[in-house]
Amino acid sequence: MDSAALPLGQAVSPPDVRRVVDGWRAAGETVAFVPTMGALHDGHLRLVEQARMEARRVVASIFVNPTQFAAHEDLDTYPRTLERDAGLLAGAGCDLLYAPTASTMYPEGFATRIAMDGPALGLETDHRPHFFGGVCIVVAKLLNQVQADIALFGEKDYQQLRVITRLAADLDIPTRIVGVPTERDGHGLALSSRNAYLSDDELAIARRLNGRLAAAAARVRDGDPINSVEHEAAAALLSDGFERVDYVAIRDADTLGLPATDQPMRILAAAWLGRTRLIDNMAV
Ligand code: PAJ
Repeated sequence: MDSAALPLGQAVSPPDVRRVVDGWRAAGETVAFVPTMGALHDGHLRLVEQARMEARRVVASIFVNPTQFAAHEDLDTYPRTLERDAGLLAGAGCDLLYAPTASTMYPEGFATRIAMDGPALGLETDHRPHFFGGVCIVVAKLLNQVQADIALFGEKDYQQLRVITRLAADLDIPTRIVGVPTERDGHGLALSSRNAYLSDDELAIARRLNGRLAAAAARVRDGDPINSVEHEAAAALLSDGFERVDYVAIRDADTLGLPATDQPMRILAAAWLGRTRLIDNMAV
């Protein structure tokens, strides 16, 4: 499809978005929403594709959210490719791109924080304590601004998906949260904007992560003790060439608390290659 030939509406402020979405609603059309930070790849476009299957209209947002980056993280260097992204979204059949500025989202005097327990405890929070506070505040704002029927999030960021599902339930946000399976390259590596930071050697190592998780999941299914599976999977990643492993953890797939053998489980991991931090997860 020729993306340039397709019209893609653009909005930069909450009233802009509301006007367009209200118009669709008045015409009886359903609306799906895909929030992103841009630097789009096929994983993001998979969400747009799923959104198109679930609703008549699709809104995507691009906002590199400063509150979810710590001072030492990659906020300033995070890839910003708005024009290219707009073309990809148009080609994927998205109807509206919402790209607010930081001062629209966080005007002078902005003072609200969201703190979450439950699925936000541990894992990412042990290593990025600021992260889910920032994600919760921006996602709560975006969901309120867009007022879609459904919003789609990738299982790639599995803890984020569980956190946002909890957030929407706890704050009575009427938008239904939908999870979409992880899009991977031909070697099983989960697609991520941060993969662009990897050298060729690092990429070869990164591609072993999903296999290590799949092998660990199989051992849990075979009845091996969870603690030793976690430890040995982390050791295997270090021997593969990962420089540091933040965690390999097997958790309850829904609450992300400690797993019970009769409930669905999820294995989640985060590991470093040079200055790049990779995360992945899968069902056990
Ligand atoms: P971002 O990293 O841009 O991701 C946007 C959405 O795309 C998230 O729901 C993420 O899980 C999904 N995604 C990324 N890679 C994927 C893949 N390989 N397969 C399937 N889905 C994938 O996540 C964020 O932005 C932000 O935290 C955000 C939710 C937008 C809040 O700022």
